[in-house]
Amino acid sequence: MAVKKSEKIWHNGKFIKWDDATLHVMAHVVHYGSAVFEGVRCYSQPKGPAIFRAQEHMQRLINSAKIYRMEVPYSREELVAATVELVRVNGVSPCYIRPIVLRGYGQLGVNPLESPIEVYIANYEWGRYLGHGSDEGVDVCVSSWNRLAPNTMPAMSKAGANYMNSQLIKMEALLNGYVEGIALDVNGYVSEGSGENLFVVYQGSLYTPPLGNSVLPGITRDVVMQLAKEMSIPLVEQLIPREMLYIADEAFFSGTAAEITPIRSVDKIAVAGGVTGPITKAIQREFFNIVNGAVPDRFHWLTPVPVASAQTVSV
Ligand SMILES: Cc1ncc(COP(=O)(O)O)c(C=O)c1O
Repeated sequence: MAVKKSEKIWHNGKFIKWDDATLHVMAHVVHYGSAVFEGVRCYSQPKGPAIFRAQEHMQRLINSAKIYRMEVPYSREELVAATVELVRVNGVSPCYIRPIVLRGYGQLGVNPLESPIEVYIANYEWGRYLGHGSDEGVDVCVSSWNRLAPNTMPAMSKAGANYMNSQLIKMEALLNGYVEGIALDVNGYVSEGSGENLFVVYQGSLYTPPLGNSVLPGITRDVVMQLAKEMSIPLVEQLIPREMLYIADEAFFSGTAAEITPIRSVDKIAVAGGVTGPITKAIQREFFNIVNGAVPDRFHWLTPVPVASAQTVSV
């Protein structure tokens, strides 16, 4: 599905027209994948649009850039303010927000330090990612592709180039009739989906791989952890052997795009008889209550966008 364009894009501190946000084909990023980015959601709440975990996303963007020695000339607060203003100016909610920091048009050698840093923030209308209704699970496989090896491509940086690996995982899954693939790390332990973190419920506890298993430090992963703590569900960050996926009582993905998506089967082995389990349901329900504004934002996860006129779109 093509992106539905909005009116404006924020570029280096100014609003430009969507169609003017173009790059030269000889920009460093085009050849070497030299970009870091974020994916953020803005929900439509009864009181207006609200951006989910804006500060945490912008902090991760700055962290991702720092790993690659990219100096972002804006503070976290400036980036959050620019995002709020962008959503207000474009007047589209709910929406997906895509901030990106890239190495632009300058030198074309591998050395990136001579190329200018460009910062863009775009937003556009967007709905559910993994395709199913929120109560149904998705059918997934274990990928034949491993996740990034430690000390090769740093998994804690949300870098554009990492998504070449994600693309291999996703294409293989789709071509084999699955909705998503779960990648193992180089040592054969469960890592994550092409664009989601993974949780498994086993004997009443919630398990997720630690950051050392080449996972992105997901912001929704953190949401799940905080909700589990509040619900007194034991949470264990530990190595997860592949076979635990097959005997799990429940399993689900977490991510900005996937939100909380139950997993119905792995490699055609049903998880919990193919129905969404009680822990997944409880976390999913609370997640949607918060993002939809049905309960107070007790964790301060939402940044309201002060607009009276944002048009609400149905997705
Ligand atoms: C590889 C990968 N893992 C995990 C996630 C989930 O992270 P978050 O919850 O911050 O969206 C994403 C999505 O950004 C991702 O691309």
